[in-house]
Parts: sequence; structure tokens; C-alpha cells
Amino acid sequence: MSPTYVAALDQGTTSTRCILFDHQGRLVSVAQREHAQHYPQPGWVEHDAAEIWRNAQRVVGEAVAQAGASPAQVTALGIANQRETTVAWDRRTGKPVGRALVWQDVRTAGIVEELAADGGPDRFRERCGLPLATYFAGPRIRWLLDHTPGLRERAERGDVLVGTMDSWLVWNLTGGPGGGVHVTDVTNASRTMLMDLATLQWDDELLAVFGVPRACLPEIRSSAEVYGTATGVVPGTRIAAALGDQQAALFGQTCFTAGEAKCTYGTGSFLLLNTGREVVRSTHGLLTTVGYKIGDEDAVYALEGSIAITGSLVQWFRDSLGLISSAAEIETLARTVDDNGGCYIVPAFSGLFAPHWRSEARGIIVGLTSYITKGHLARAVLEATGWQTREVVDAMDADSGIELSTLRVDGGMTADNLLMQFLADVLDVPVVRPMVSETVSLGAAYAAGLAVGYWPDLEGLRRNWHRAAQWTPRMDPALRAEEYDNWQRAVERTFGWIT
Ligand code: G3P
Repeated sequence: MSPTYVAALDQGTTSTRCILFDHQGRLVSVAQREHAQHYPQPGWVEHDAAEIWRNAQRVVGEAVAQAGASPAQVTALGIANQRETTVAWDRRTGKPVGRALVWQDVRTAGIVEELAADGGPDRFRERCGLPLATYFAGPRIRWLLDHTPGLRERAERGDVLVGTMDSWLVWNLTGGPGGGVHVTDVTNASRTMLMDLATLQWDDELLAVFGVPRACLPEIRSSAEVYGTATGVVPGTRIAAALGDQQAALFGQTCFTAGEAKCTYGTGSFLLLNTGREVVRSTHGLLTTVGYKIGDEDAVYALEGSIAITGSLVQWFRDSLGLISSAAEIETLARTVDDNGGCYIVPAFSGLFAPHWRSEARGIIVGLTSYITKGHLARAVLEATGWQTREVVDAMDADSGIELSTLRVDGGMTADNLLMQFLADVLDVPVVRPMVSETVSLGAAYAAGLAVGYWPDLEGLRRNWHRAAQWTPRMDPALRAEEYDNWQRAVERTFGWIT
């Protein structure tokens, strides 16, 4: 009998990837394609959703071919996606209306400010778990409806559909115009500011305040269930899961028990703590979000610390400053010196996310003297990721009352040993990386596999998790405290830069 697989389609900020996994959760094949980033104005970031859909079809086809499999051997497909990125499209033609607005895009600052004027940035936190910020999808939908002639009327009639990348992909995979299923999952919906965390449904009051007609929105479903059957590239394959990529990583890291946490280090970094069936409201600048929901079971919630700039600071160091020629070189350069030489870089390039939520902050380099070399700058770049994680972990401890005993990590930056050691040092807890570091894809595959019975239960998945590396804290406590104090003073200097 031919082997069967589960496919994960990971639609990320910079690329789209498909990975096929087998029964043991082992990676069988992988295909990946980058898409263009469009920056039409400072602070604006756009993607071409049609290009992303073309890439998605190609990578799925390539991964299946690479595995030497037929579409019939792909039992199910699960989606993990960049969250909060928003696209509108014509229900009849399937064509996107303009470009997708990316999660890093800050053009909605005016809308956010206007809404916060009446009740402050936390006015909707109780209902949706989120502070008012440019990060989320709801203000983006409002912006699209306000700034595209005729769009609001078309959306009210349901002629135009709106959604995050999961919705766009599921709709296209299940047949597009004429057949496409318009759905989203609870994790993606929990990033819009439009869903009530308790009912897991669109909230009429929030829809009214944000000015978003219900007719254009997808139906909210669980993260693991069969939404429909694919036509086209893998005809007959069940589309059986969708999760925001960070929630997918939580799932792929098998953080199924309350108190378990992971942090994914990519362009930004996202630390999620499973809080179980309980909705924990943050009073320390974290987000309350849905972790996952398997079919009819109750939803599992999470607290999240979102950091906007980590890996992309290394990219900036490489591409804009030209001080290294590959991202991996940053570790070599940082190792040319013993410490940061008193230099700190706070990458508030488009404000600061958790725990500060300061959109008017801008980045700084402090502590410059003629002693500082590019080696010190490289160290400060890496340390910025460590300290930003520490701020989030402190907020997490304060909000949840759970003191983190170990941190599971994944993502591209975890290949940097100097950074991982620094992370363990500043958090003062062991940092561990699993054998399969593609946790986002693994999580999407696990959820889809559970939905169709490819894997029987969570316990079985947990047994697939194996530790590949561990870093143990060894920093002197007095030095840690002094350095953290310096970092916090540097952060304060970024506040209020845009007036
Ligand atoms: O919330 C944004 C996050 O989902 C982006 O993740 O890995 O595509 O940069 P990534």
C-alpha cells in the first residue's frame, strides 16, 4: 500500500512553503517560494494576494512531486498563515481588490487614534483581548472600505469578500468563484478585534464601531475540521485545518497543557503561553488570543507577547547597513568582541509592540563611544532580541502568575548559538529547541491530521517531540540586572519620538 501524507501550507510574511509530513511527524519534502514586498509609502507594506495564491499552488505541486507522491496520497492539508494581513476580493471573478495590507503596515494609525480617543486604547480589550493598535486586521478592513471607491457598497451586498490569508487560500483551494468556501478559524479571527473571545463569533457592536459589514466576512470555524475538498492542485484532498502561524507553532511544539510556552524567532518574535480553557485578560501589555480549537472541543486560549522586529533587525544590519553579507555572519561578527561595549539598539522601527504598544516610538542606538566597533553593534543587534523576549516573559509572569520554567524555541534565529545562550542567560531559564524546527508547518499538519483521523490524539503527537538542543543560564545575576536596567533605560528613550 502506498504511504500517505499530510501537507502543511505555511503562508508567511516573506514566503509560502509546503511541507509533507509522514505518520511519525517526519518531514518528507519541502518546497518554498518568496513573494514581493511592496512599500508604496513609508510605513506601508503590501503583498499581491494573486502572486501568493500562484506560489501556494506551485509549492504544493512541487512538494507532492518531490515526495514522489500522487495527490491521492495527500490525506489532508492544513494551513498556517501570517496573521492580520488582510485582503479583499471579488466573489465573482476571484480577483483581489488592490493589494493585501500586511500586518506590519501602519497606515491605520489615524483610525486607531480616532477609536482610542473615545475610551482609550484598551476600550475593546475585555471583549476581544486586544489593545487598539495598527497591528490588527479590523482597522485594515475599515481602511480598505473607506479608501476604495464603491467597496463598502459591494461589501454590504456580499459581492466582495474580505479575510486574512487563511480565508483567501481556503476559498481558492476549494474552488474559488462558484465553489469556494469562505471561512476563517478562531485563531485568525481572534486577531481582527471583531470577534468576541467568549462566544467565538463576530460581535455586532464591534462590527458597528469598526464599520465592517458582516456580509463580507468569513464564517468562523474551529482550527481543525474539514472545511472543504480541494479542486485544482491536489484534487480530492481535504482542507482540514487553519491556524495563525504562531498558534500553529504552539501546536507544533505540542504545548497542549496550560503553562507551556514557546517563542518563534522569525522576522518578528512571538511568545505564546497556553492558558487552557481560561481567558486570561492581560494587564501588562500582552494579548489574549485563541491558541487553537479542535473541532467541537472547547477552545484553548493563550497569552501572547508579540515583538515586531527581531530577525528583521539582522536583515536591516545586512541589507541597509551592509555590515554583513549573510544573516548567519552576525554571530561570527558578534564573537569578535566579548560584550556590547555599553551599546544598545532598540529596534522600534514602526513603534514597539508588547508589552509597550507605543506606535510613536522610533528606534535608537545608545551608548556610542569611539570604542564601539561593528562587532559591538552586531552584539547589540542580537541582544535586542534577548531583552525584548525578557520584557515579554516578565509581563507573562505578572499576568499569568506562572513562572516560566523552560522556554521552547523555534524559527530561523534559533540557529544562532550566541543568541540562544544569551537568551537563556537573560531569562535565567533553560532554552530548548526541538528536533523538527519547522514547528509552524508541523502544527498545521498535526491539526489537519487530527481532523481526519490520520493521528488519533494529542498524546501521540506529544511523543513525536524530541529535544535537539538546550542552553542553560550562566550569566552572573548582578550583571544580568545591570544590563537589563540599561536596556530598559534605552527603551524609554524611544518613546514619544513621533509627535
Ligand atoms: O502576527 C504576525 C505573524 O503571524 C507573522 O509571522 O512568521 O510570517 O513573520 P511570520
